[in-house]
Amino acid sequence: MSSRIAQIRLVSSHPEVYEPCDDSFALVDALLADRKNLLEHKPTLCMEVGCGSGYVITSLMLMLGEEANGAQFIATDINHHAIRVTQETMEAHRVHAELINTDIASGLENRLAGLVDLLVVNPPYVPTPEDEVGREGIASAWAGGENGRSVIDRILLVALKLLSKRGWLYMVTLTANNPSQICRQMRKKGYDSRIIVQRSTEEESLHIIKFWKDFDIEVDAKDVVPNSNAAPAGVVDSVLSQFQRLSFWRSSDVNSSRSGK
Ligand SMILES: C[S@@+](CC[C@H](N)C(=O)[O-])C[C@H]1O[C@@H](n2cnc3c(N)ncnc32)[C@H](O)[C@@H]1O
Repeated sequence: MSSRIAQIRLVSSHPEVYEPCDDSFALVDALLADRKNLLEHKPTLCMEVGCGSGYVITSLMLMLGEEANGAQFIATDINHHAIRVTQETMEAHRVHAELINTDIASGLENRLAGLVDLLVVNPPYVPTPEDEVGREGIASAWAGGENGRSVIDRILLVALKLLSKRGWLYMVTLTANNPSQICRQMRKKGYDSRIIVQRSTEEESLHIIKFWKDFDIEVDAKDVVPNSNAAPAGVVDSVLSQFQRLSFWRSSDVNSSRSGK
């Protein structure tokens, strides 16, 4: 399995670029855990928002490999150093993606609207004062504003535009981000969700959530209020029950396979 993900020794670095960390590893582990489904899904356009060192997008390309059969890969980052570092990481692994230095998908939204079959995001999710969000350099890697949701909520709005009808989104969240509320919010837009990996460190509890369009979910066109707590009781129950089962899931979490580091 190790050859299917990026090797840490080949991941490039820069003082202003986020190094692969627990959250990056958890996201890659979630993708690995779902690899069989991803291969069957046959995504034609795959995208990462906030590629940092390139560890995740490179791992994604490696794990889909030749079986991805002509799939295209795009990655963006607001930090121009991250774009260069990702390019170096990809070259070291002999894979290729289109890299764009932009705010989320600014300038790409018309071109990519409704086309992205797979979107992966490890966003800046740390709760910080609002004025720390979007600062130059490494601070943009973690500064997430109030409840760590400022950038996450903007990314979700863009994701709704970019995802194809069969599009899947994998996103890292922290307990402080209120992931159950994010799931309720997405459900109102017609997306079902599942936690693929949950991991607790001394400092934080991370959830890697997968979202996909469920055409059986009734979407009220008027119901477009983001961050609303008001959801039908059944919806709240089904989402919350996922989070209540976390202690069980932790024990069945996929094991990290990073022996190729
Ligand atoms: C937590 S780091 C994750 C990096 C990498 N994906 C990983 O998992 O190791 C978040 C990344 O998002 C980028 N980022 C922050 N705000 C962004 C925005 N508005 N648009 C695009 N990228 C952004 C940061 O520069 C940083 O590289």
